[in-house]
Formats: sequence, C-alpha cells, structure tokens
Amino acid sequence: MADVEELKKMAGIEACKFVKSGMKVGLGTGSTVKYTILELGRRVSEEGLQIVGVPTSLATEELAIQVGIELVKLSDIDGLDIVIDGADEFDVNFQLIKGGGAALLREKIVAQQSNSMVVVADDRKKVSILGDFPLPIEITPFSYQSTIRQISKLLDCEVSLRLEGPEAKVTDNGNFIADAKTGPTILDPVSTESDLLNIAGVVQVGLFNNMCDAVILAGKNGIETLLNPVGNLV
Ligand code: 5RP
Repeated sequence: MADVEELKKMAGIEACKFVKSGMKVGLGTGSTVKYTILELGRRVSEEGLQIVGVPTSLATEELAIQVGIELVKLSDIDGLDIVIDGADEFDVNFQLIKGGGAALLREKIVAQQSNSMVVVADDRKKVSILGDFPLPIEITPFSYQSTIRQISKLLDCEVSLRLEGPEAKVTDNGNFIADAKTGPTILDPVSTESDLLNIAGVVQVGLFNNMCDAVILAGKNGIETLLNPVGNLV
C-alpha cells in the first residue's frame, strides 16, 4: 500500500493535467501541493511549459523561484485561470477547511481571483461533516484573547491560539491563528463563515465555501478526479 507521502505526490502531480501553456496559475501552500509545484517546475524546464504563477505564501514563493516558475503579482494581472491548493478537509459538497499551514488568508484571496480551484488531497481529508480538523481562523494580534473568547462563545467550543515554540505563530500577514475545536459539527459552513466574519478581530476564516471545482484524491486504490457537479470544470 502506498504511504501517505506517496499519495500526496501522486495527487500533486496528477493535478498538473489541468495546467496548459499560457495559463496564470495560483500556487497553493502545503506538503501536497509542493509536489504540484515541483512537477510544474519540471515541465517548465524540460518541456517548455509557459505559465506564470502567483504564490499563496512566502514558503511557496521560495519553492516556486527555486524550481524556475515565473512569478507575477496578483495585483498586476486580471485574475487567474486556475489555483491548485491543498486542504485539511473536504466534504461531499466540496466545501473545505484550509489553513493548517497558516496561509488561509492569501490562499482565499488567490482562490477568489481564480476561474477554477483544484484541490489535491489524500483520502484522509475526505469527511462527511467538516470540523474534526480544528478550524483555523486568522485573527488580529490586537486584543487576540478577547477575539478568541468571542469565537469560543459563538462556536461553543474550545479555541486555542496557535503557537510556534513558546510564541504565537505569526502569519505571512503579521496576524495570529486561532484553532477552533468544533468537532465534526459544521453542518452549515456558509453560515459559520459569515457568523465568524462578523467578529471584528477575525481577519479570515479557513472555510472555503463554493470555491472548489475538483478534488484530486489519492487513496490506496489509486487516483480519482472528483468533479464538483456545480463547479467550473464540468
Ligand atoms: C495551508 C493549507 C494547506 O493547503 C492545508 O493545510 C493542507 O496541507 P497539506 O497538503 O500539507 O496537508 O491550507 O494553509
């Protein structure tokens, strides 16, 4: 049986089938989409693939530069053809939890500017109800303790500040991350996202609703391409 790293690699590479010369491509963040970026870099150098990329984090920017993908600023172009990114969970309606890698704000900005979104995942990420993975929420450092209390009250669950060593994890945008341990209870991710966004200290929520057009899913029986029936890739 393939191990998890092998599954991530299979999914990451398979997603490249959606990328053609001339495209503007959003480059996600994480250990699965890393393989997509490596494969796109290989196709650029060995096959003459012509693309420009927009990275969703400083880590991805560094990797993309290393493998020779030309990068552009999102603000300098008129949208993207596709973004390929990982996810922490996806449900039957192609709703996602993201932000395990603390890049959710830039990931959502990039995804909103893209004509289509393809998620790369191994089969541990497929769930019937979202929330087993603690929901990442980007919050302002200012008065973060009270924001965390507000989130906890709203969702009626434990919420913790994400740490890196003894200190708060600081995102690429200078913010903090709160992780909400809702358990698998997020039945209405659209309302949950909107309720959380009403809290002033919340910058962005790791629920990606009605954005994902396809999931490339790697499991022990191989690769499946799951197309969202109401998405942009059918
Ligand atoms: C980063 C993310 C990642 O895409 C998500 O955490 C999945 O990462 P991985 O492929 O490493 O499991 O949302 O903010």
